[in-house]
Amino acid sequence: MLDLVANKVHNEKRQGESYAPFVVDPNVYTRNFYIESYGCQMNFSDSEVVASILNKEGFGATRNIEEADLIFINTCSIREKAEQTVRKRLTEFKKLKTNKPGTLVGVLGCMAERLKSKFLEEEKLVDIVVGPDAYRSLPQLVSEATEGHKSVNVLLSREETYADIAPIRLNTNGVTAFVSIMRGCNNMCSFCVVPFTRGRERSRDADSILNECRDLFENGYREVTLLGQNVDSYYYNAESNSMDHAVTFAKLLEKVAQISPLLRVRFSTSHPKDIKKDVLHTMAAYENICKCIHLPVQSGSTRILQLMNRTYTREWYLKKVDEIRTILPDCSITADIITGFCTETEEDHRETISVMDHSQYDLSYMFFYSERPGTLAQRRYEDDVPLDVKKRRLQEVIEKQNQLSLTNYKKDIGKTCKVLIDGESKRSAEDWVGRNSQNKVVIFPKNYRNNQKGDYVDVLIKDCTQATLFGEIV
Ligand code: 5AD
Ligand code: SF4
Repeated sequence: MLDLVANKVHNEKRQGESYAPFVVDPNVYTRNFYIESYGCQMNFSDSEVVASILNKEGFGATRNIEEADLIFINTCSIREKAEQTVRKRLTEFKKLKTNKPGTLVGVLGCMAERLKSKFLEEEKLVDIVVGPDAYRSLPQLVSEATEGHKSVNVLLSREETYADIAPIRLNTNGVTAFVSIMRGCNNMCSFCVVPFTRGRERSRDADSILNECRDLFENGYREVTLLGQNVDSYYYNAESNSMDHAVTFAKLLEKVAQISPLLRVRFSTSHPKDIKKDVLHTMAAYENICKCIHLPVQSGSTRILQLMNRTYTREWYLKKVDEIRTILPDCSITADIITGFCTETEEDHRETISVMDHSQYDLSYMFFYSERPGTLAQRRYEDDVPLDVKKRRLQEVIEKQNQLSLTNYKKDIGKTCKVLIDGESKRSAEDWVGRNSQNKVVIFPKNYRNNQKGDYVDVLIKDCTQATLFGEIV
């Protein structure tokens, strides 16, 4: 998954931001909740499911934490630092509970799943602990907690996809939305806690995905990002399905793209072993499927990849990159990279840098290895690369990425690209900000034209930094 607490060139969403689409109406809602999300896009998307479940129970969403009766924090466990951020934030909730007795604090998401009832022992102010597959039980857990009983549900499921729940869009710009298409992960990457916190992989009913995307389009949205830990292994088979046969990811992508040529489609994340030619050809066939593939490499060394249990070699990955470049010459490729995994040598590290050179990533999310309890790597290998070495290698990888981004972005100068307007630029009310098909941020003057967010415009690129293109409407 794309992780939002990364060292990154772009900054899509700020951690912990919480928005609600409406203010509390005391005539409709007797109690209200505040929700704050950390970690990957999947977590932000789950918070929208949670908002829907609570809303049905008569809880209104609020942006103002001080007036909330229920405070939820949707947590991430991917690295130790992500967990520390949540722990620190929890200490800040203490004051709120003192000021407003009766306020309940609930922990959702991956940390809830990893720590289970231990959370209640370690963090005394927590009242409710709910794992990612147990959100339907929230109303019951809240009512138990209201009666003074701390409550926990961390049961993982093999079926739950929340297919029938229409998410309430939090933090929305009204143009772009995330749509969850599957949950869980069956890949056992040795460094990763996700299979333990999100359980087995399962795909969501294809019709419910299409209906959600259609609804979004009819409500003015112009871009959907199909989300899953491993979208390329999406597979749904049901006789009652209107598509009447098995739906692969390529098929699903095509069906979503056919909703309207005005609806852009993105997806994340692909495991290099699973992205197949049928997906690449479907991308080539539809202009509205964005030409951007997030293809986490993790390491450029075959020996390290084996220890990571990634199931591909350096050469295999590079061939996959070449295949993408052949079928989709204008496709942007982005990656996740980990430095300082167990036993990583300087030579392994140089191999990672050379994979970056070959792949010409437009953007990478880069991390140093953080040992996670219970993972294969924690049980089998020694976390033996000193922290200062991990950090120095990370810095080198970041510098390499910055150079690649700048070189690649400069190549866009003089070209015209189609941009979907996301809204007003934060820097100036005179400018629009949007993204092109390759997901690059583009800023350009409004120029007294009658454009609105959600419009497509052709922009001639005139300048850039390593993270932004600047241009003018043509
Ligand atoms: N340490 C550092 N980075 C990690 N990631 C996953 N687990 C760890 C870990 N233990 C990174 C991977 C993954 C991204 C979401 O987070 O690069 O693709
Ligand atoms: Fe997302 Fe959970 Fe993984 Fe964090 S640990 S990136 S929240 S799936």
